[in-house]
Amino acid sequence: MAETKDGRRRHRKPHAIFIPYPLQGHVIPSVHLAVKLASHGFTVTFVNTHYIHHKISTATGSGDVFSKLRESSPGGESLDIRYATVSDGLPLGFDRSLNHDQFMASLLHVFSAHVEELVAGIVASGEEVSCLITDTFFVWPAKVAKKFGLVCVSFWTEPALVYTLYHHVHLLRQNGHFGCQDRREDAIEYIPGVASIEPKDTTSYLQEAGETSVCHQIIFRAFQDARGADFVVANTVQELEAETISALQAQMSYYAIGPIFPPGFVRSAVGTSLWSESDCSHWLDARKPGSVLYVSFGSYAHVEKTDLVEIARGLALSGVSFVWVLRDDIVSSDDPNPLPVGFREEVSDRSMIVGWCSQKEVLAHPAIGGLLTHCGWNSILEAAWCGVPLLCFPLYTDQFTNRKLVVDDWKVGINLVDCKAVRKEDVAKNIGRLMGGELGDDPRKRAKEVKKILASALGNNGSSSRNFGQFVEELKNRIQ
Ligand code: UDX
Repeated sequence: MAETKDGRRRHRKPHAIFIPYPLQGHVIPSVHLAVKLASHGFTVTFVNTHYIHHKISTATGSGDVFSKLRESSPGGESLDIRYATVSDGLPLGFDRSLNHDQFMASLLHVFSAHVEELVAGIVASGEEVSCLITDTFFVWPAKVAKKFGLVCVSFWTEPALVYTLYHHVHLLRQNGHFGCQDRREDAIEYIPGVASIEPKDTTSYLQEAGETSVCHQIIFRAFQDARGADFVVANTVQELEAETISALQAQMSYYAIGPIFPPGFVRSAVGTSLWSESDCSHWLDARKPGSVLYVSFGSYAHVEKTDLVEIARGLALSGVSFVWVLRDDIVSSDDPNPLPVGFREEVSDRSMIVGWCSQKEVLAHPAIGGLLTHCGWNSILEAAWCGVPLLCFPLYTDQFTNRKLVVDDWKVGINLVDCKAVRKEDVAKNIGRLMGGELGDDPRKRAKEVKKILASALGNNGSSSRNFGQFVEELKNRIQ
């Protein structure tokens, strides 16, 4: 609490500098969390890279992510959200997903220096800044927060199960499940709050033999730094990962506040898409309820061309109607048209293939009966919110662990393929099983149950609402 000149005590308005990881799947929940904090009395300075800013403003035609929100906020009373951009050290035209390691190295060395300069500039300007909210995958937040006397909040955009695996990587090393030759292949049964997990269900980085890549460096340094955070807020739900979250809460201030969506879910006053969205609603309006499979592999992952071709052939064989988001770099930016010859014509009467869409709008449409997904965490939460069951095809990073939660633990989905090889017959069979609802332990029923869990978590007095309220109160207490 600060004092005015006449000696009266006044509350400082908390001011957070919020820095998301510059990837689509991280920026989306960060933007929505920033708005939520601003509507709870925070001033937020939100920082995007020049690249993310350029992509979003080009795709959405808006000045910045928050400009429409500022114009349309209730009662004309603007939320106090400021906006800044910094360079990630690479030219705008550089293909960040194709040159992933170079991008990561630039984030590690160049972006981090720019961010520190930005924070120093805001603090030196005399602005009262109270906390730094940053993605857990950065390697510098606790150090920078300490340097400028700020409370450090780490924002985790993936499940608690993934968090705890990285947080306990020293146990994986000690027990020979990671970081050594001849790694153990039996189940991992010593991570607090995780009864048992197979090595194949850990993240792709934890399944690799060596740990010399720039991504390994970033992840392990980031989790070391995160030990210095004052709070961790996570886009997950207490009831969905109860034991894992309780075990983390015994070690740190860990708040499960998800799913973090805009109010109303589909309609958002903020623009977050890096690509312009095709409208699928008219096409979907003409389809029967629950009859359409939505297919999307998220914003960043690449699919092997041979696998993509088998998936396409499987979709054709299945006879099911589908909307497919096919980014033009889905295989690689050098191969923008990887579909089999004649495929588009063969399925033209029952498919819509687009480059990007409003995924929330599509998932919420009554015509959607299933999602074929790479198991990105945002997609899983969005499908769960809509009660849509999943067909899982994990590609890299957290997606293998997310698949375990969906298929083995919550039973709201099934695997796309029965073994490592992707074969069109399996693809068609599993699409049929999911969409036909012929499964014994029907994931469709479970999806409706999980939908209720999510709705209740965000309802009045639900776990995520309570956790968010408690987090905000404790953060404000630390600041004042
Ligand atoms: C990645 C990781 O895979 C994910 O697990 C992590 O939490 C964030 O980084 P990404 O691969 O892009 O994200 O997948 P996902 O988490 O599913 O996020 C994609 C987002 O893009 C979702 O919010 C989805 O609604 C949105 N999207 C996708 C669209 O708005 N339109 C589309 O056409 C496709």
